[in-house]
Amino acid sequence: MNWGMKNRLSRIIKPASGRCVMLAVDHGYFQGPTTGLTDIGKTVEPLLQYADALMITRGAVRNWIDPAAEIPIILRVSGGQSILKELSNEIITTNIDDAIRINASAITCSVYIGGEYEKQTIDNLSKLVDEGEKYGIPVLAVTAVGKEMVRDARYLGLASRICVEIGAHIVKTYYTENFEKVVAACGNVPVVIAGGKKLPEKEALQMTYNAVSDGATGVDMGRNIFQSDSPVGMIQAVRAIVHEGKSLDEAYEIYEQEKE
Ligand code: R5P
Repeated sequence: MNWGMKNRLSRIIKPASGRCVMLAVDHGYFQGPTTGLTDIGKTVEPLLQYADALMITRGAVRNWIDPAAEIPIILRVSGGQSILKELSNEIITTNIDDAIRINASAITCSVYIGGEYEKQTIDNLSKLVDEGEKYGIPVLAVTAVGKEMVRDARYLGLASRICVEIGAHIVKTYYTENFEKVVAACGNVPVVIAGGKKLPEKEALQMTYNAVSDGATGVDMGRNIFQSDSPVGMIQAVRAIVHEGKSLDEAYEIYEQEKE
C-alpha cells in the first residue's frame, strides 16, 4: 500500500482506536430527498464533529457542505438507477479527476452480487480499484442487496469476499447473525456495517455493539443517526461503542442524556 493510500485510510479509520464512525448521507443518489436529508447541510452540521468521515455524492457535497469543513469525504461515485427501477443497474457517475478535485479520502460504489446486473457492478468496482490504486485513493465497496437477497452470513460473506478479491480496501455490508463469519471472509480488509432502515435507538445501538464485538471496524451509518429523535445523541452513543468500548447500557445513557 502506497503512502497516500495509507494516509487517506488513516484519516478515516482512526489509528488511536483502529475504528471508525462514518456518517452516510448519500441516499439521495437513488431515492431522492430521503427523510432527514432534504437539507443535508442543516442535518449534518451538528453531527460532523462526531463523524470520522462523510459518505456523500459530488452534487451533495458541492451544494450542502462547506469546503472548509474538516471532514474526510468518502465520495459516492456511482448511480444511474432509482428506486423506481432495477437497483442493480448501477454505473460509475463520477470520474477520478473529479474525486481528486473534491479531495476525496475514499471513493465508493455498490456491488450487487446475485443481482440482474451483478457483472456490471463488479466491473464498476474493479475500475475504481484500478483508479484508486493509481492515485492512492482507497475504495469502499458496498455490498448492496437486491429486493430478493437474504441478508444472512452466507450471502453477505460471499458478497463481501468477492469485493475483497476484486481489490476493495474497505467493505461495507449489513449486520447479521454469525457476523464473525462475514468478517473472517474479508481477511485483513476492514469491514463496516450500514445501519439499514430506522430502528428503535436501543436496537440500533445493540446492532452496533454486536458488530464491533464480532470484529467490525465500525459503522457507516445513516438513517439510524439522522432520522433519530436525537441525531447528536445517537452519533455520540455510536461513537462511544465504536471508539471507547462502552457497553450498550452506557451508550444508551449517552443518547438519553443528550436527548433530554
Ligand atoms: C446505500 O447504498 C447507501 O450507500 C447508504 O449510505 C447506506 O445504506 C448506509 O445508510 P443506512 O445506515 O441508512 O443504511
